[in-house]
Amino acid sequence: MPLFKKKQQQELSLSDIVLPEHIGIIMDGNGRWAKKRGLPRSAGHTAGAQTFRKIARYCSDIGIKYLTVYAFSTENWRRPKEEIDALMRLFKDYLQEAIRDFKDDSIVLRFIGDRSAFSPELLSLMNENEEESCDRDGMVLNIAMNYGGRAELVTAIQSIAQQAADGVLKPEEISEALVSDNLYTKGQPDPDLIIRPSGENRTSNFLLWQSAYAEYVIMDVLWPDFTERDLDKALIEFAKRNRRFGGV
Ligand code: FPP
Repeated sequence: MPLFKKKQQQELSLSDIVLPEHIGIIMDGNGRWAKKRGLPRSAGHTAGAQTFRKIARYCSDIGIKYLTVYAFSTENWRRPKEEIDALMRLFKDYLQEAIRDFKDDSIVLRFIGDRSAFSPELLSLMNENEEESCDRDGMVLNIAMNYGGRAELVTAIQSIAQQAADGVLKPEEISEALVSDNLYTKGQPDPDLIIRPSGENRTSNFLLWQSAYAEYVIMDVLWPDFTERDLDKALIEFAKRNRRFGGV
């Protein structure tokens, strides 16, 4: 399917292209942003949280249906306690703000990842936000917290194996659709576009199963400096790609 509505080449703008349904963003580069300014890493995360607010709002405004952001990975617990504490405070601030201030919003909030590691306070804010927003009709915003693609697959495999052991399912009935249905993103389309700012060429354990046919756009901008124009650039780059899904 052509992703251009009108023009073929240069000077494309958002009105000329077909937007992806689902965008994933690896919000990378907060630490380097802070270091460049002689600031503690936590200052980079604070700035990154502001960028997250701005870009999530922008995605919703331009009509993106699903946005998944990588906020904290299963590996991020290896960071210094001070940095982890700062991140947990930022999550708490955002979740409190979302409950308080976003009453008239259309965004549906979802959290993907293993929640068991979070404080009871954070856990109840996550639950409250999901309950409060689940009937809305706007963009689904998945915040990946204590998320790892491999851990997600292990959890899915355990659940499927249990169903087989209980005799509810025969091994030959295990299909790609069944695996997808056992992931945190059950019922959602796979990401079409994954954006990684900060220039790193890695998946970093993000949406491993779901990103099988995602287009990656790697950008040389640190996440706190990422703007709406950078998102436009990624969308235009995405529209120029020829997606074949293994066909010709
Ligand atoms: C990776 O950059 C970023 C993270 C591990 C944290 C992402 C968190 C935020 C953007 C802020 C809070 C989010 C919400 C949802 C309120 P890095 O620290 O690894 O950067 P570096 O590679 O430059 O060190």
